[in-house]
Amino acid sequence: MMGKENFVHKGTPFAVNVHSEESLNYAENEFPVLDDDIFNVTYPKSGTNWMIEILNLIKYKGDTTMSNRVPIYERSPWYETIFGKEQVKALNHPRIISSHLPYHMFAKSFSKSKAKIIYTMRNPKDVFVSNYHFAHALQIFKEPKSLQEHMDNFLQGNSLYGSWFDHVKGWMQMKEDRRFFYITYEELQQDLRGCVLRICKFLGQELEDEAIDSVVKNSSFKVMKDNKMANWTTIPSDVLDHSKGSFMRKGVCGDWKNYFTVAQNEIFDDVYQEQMKDLNTKLFWDEN
Ligand code: A3P
Repeated sequence: MMGKENFVHKGTPFAVNVHSEESLNYAENEFPVLDDDIFNVTYPKSGTNWMIEILNLIKYKGDTTMSNRVPIYERSPWYETIFGKEQVKALNHPRIISSHLPYHMFAKSFSKSKAKIIYTMRNPKDVFVSNYHFAHALQIFKEPKSLQEHMDNFLQGNSLYGSWFDHVKGWMQMKEDRRFFYITYEELQQDLRGCVLRICKFLGQELEDEAIDSVVKNSSFKVMKDNKMANWTTIPSDVLDHSKGSFMRKGVCGDWKNYFTVAQNEIFDDVYQEQMKDLNTKLFWDEN
């Protein structure tokens, strides 16, 4: 994986060497979804890896063997990538499969399945700041020239995997579906244990209190940051330049306040209001 070139598939930017027309067509049209599959869907930088860790720990009832042995991106690969097809085949069942795909490009065979989707969202201002830092280090991103330029692109939907607004609006069309569960990064921060219990209920998994304790403890920022199987330090430096930033960067809510000017914040708010006006669901950051 190298290069920072993007290509456009169905109007959405993807990364050369990570995605291909073939891998995206396969993901949408041919990928066989199984009834016990659990999909971890996010817009990038919304807490994807946090949710992978939570779901893995729930799957193994709090046992940390896998968390300490297998890199996080192999425990729940992104099925739409070039390597995803083979990586998914290697998974134990029930498979925990990650995806950043927008709703309209998701696996068609999901519709007739009993598989479940967990969709994690995060305040787009913090998604943007996280993405801005990560873009410096991860080679698949175009290196941002400036925060302003990166923000203009983000607000216009000119980012990998497309517009945050379209992603959220697209996936939230599923919100009444019993196979769909949505949650926010902010709720995970506010009450991780409560969220783990809700996720277990959605998955139909009953865990003893001690197992829940282990899920909560081992998916904490501190434990994940120190776990080399969760903190992405196992990624080769030609893919992720570790000197330019760590994957487990800050792990907080509201870091955008350290980066946005008053004017940038106003523009961001205006675009947000306009783009989200038809979504009939109040999200965490709309109310808090
Ligand atoms: P920051 O860059 O704001 O620190 P993704 O997994 O979708 O790429 O998201 C990465 C973001 O989630 C990063 O945000 C990372 O620090 C944060 N993150 C990962 N694990 C976390 C955890 N256990 N608790 C809180 N934040 C976490």
